[in-house]
Amino acid sequence: MAVGKNTIWERFLSPVIGSLIDNERLRRYADSVDWEKQSDRFRRDDVVIPAYYSSQNFHGISGGYLNYNAAITYDPITQYVTPPNETWVRQELIDAIRVKPRRILDLGCGTASTTLMLKQAFPQAEVIGLDLSPYMLVRAAHKAESTGLDIKFSHGKAEATGFPANNFDLVTASLLFHEIPVTISQAILQESFRLLRVGGQVLVLDGNQKALRQLGWLNDIFEEPYIREYGAGSVDAEMGAAGFTAVNTKNVWWVHQITTGIKAIFVADGTKHSNIRQCEPTAQEDFQIFPSPAFDTTA
Ligand SMILES: C[S@@+](CC[C@H](N)C(=O)[O-])C[C@H]1O[C@@H](n2cnc3c(N)ncnc32)[C@H](O)[C@@H]1O
Repeated sequence: MAVGKNTIWERFLSPVIGSLIDNERLRRYADSVDWEKQSDRFRRDDVVIPAYYSSQNFHGISGGYLNYNAAITYDPITQYVTPPNETWVRQELIDAIRVKPRRILDLGCGTASTTLMLKQAFPQAEVIGLDLSPYMLVRAAHKAESTGLDIKFSHGKAEATGFPANNFDLVTASLLFHEIPVTISQAILQESFRLLRVGGQVLVLDGNQKALRQLGWLNDIFEEPYIREYGAGSVDAEMGAAGFTAVNTKNVWWVHQITTGIKAIFVADGTKHSNIRQCEPTAQEDFQIFPSPAFDTTA
């Protein structure tokens, strides 16, 4: 990994986490895959990679997500930087779902750790994971195959997916917003509003913005180019501005947050009714604790 100099990440965290990772196993997995050939299965020529994405290193990975190193190291690193437990944190997003979706879109799905859990929670639903990195999609597809889950993966931009309007009941984004400029997260929420059917739900899981504001040094730890502007913003306010109603942000294990909103129905007098749902509400009791797909790094 090529990383910035003298950061807390480079000096302390990267070596510590590096020592916890089974590098030999990762290398074997990496060598077993023809990354260029497999990423070509997903790569779309009409997807123009934006400069805010290609010009930055993320988590100190040179070239950001546009290489296979990002795809193989993402899960082993993420399990250590998503306290107190990556699966518990992702499960909070699943537990926050208030609709019974038939079509789900997971934006910036990465290696599909949340996408797999969505499919496990709603096996009858059609689940699509979308990401700008064809390499992350290769890893995502391997994980889906190894768990026997039928998930579609699509190369694309979350802010301009190209999917038709009113097409999904649930749109999710986990750990995406802190990685992009605020103008892009606003555009993603507008796109989510367009994509959702009336009564559909949007869910955003990410770092806790209040905590990031109070603990400025947290912003510098992980070499995230946009995390400072993310922390200064408000996903809650952006969601409201995008047209969602019943917007609510909940703290998750203090360092994370989940923001939810509903695409409401408009009635003749112009009022929005967020309690009218086209999708069937899901009873809380229906949820089970699923074994974590997030820790499956080499299957
Ligand atoms: C931190 S990872 C999160 C991955 C996954 N959602 C998770 O929870 O582990 C961010 C992912 O978002 C993708 N990404 C960043 N900007 C994007 C955009 N504008 N459209 C689609 N994907 C994007 C990256 O390629 C990367 O895979």
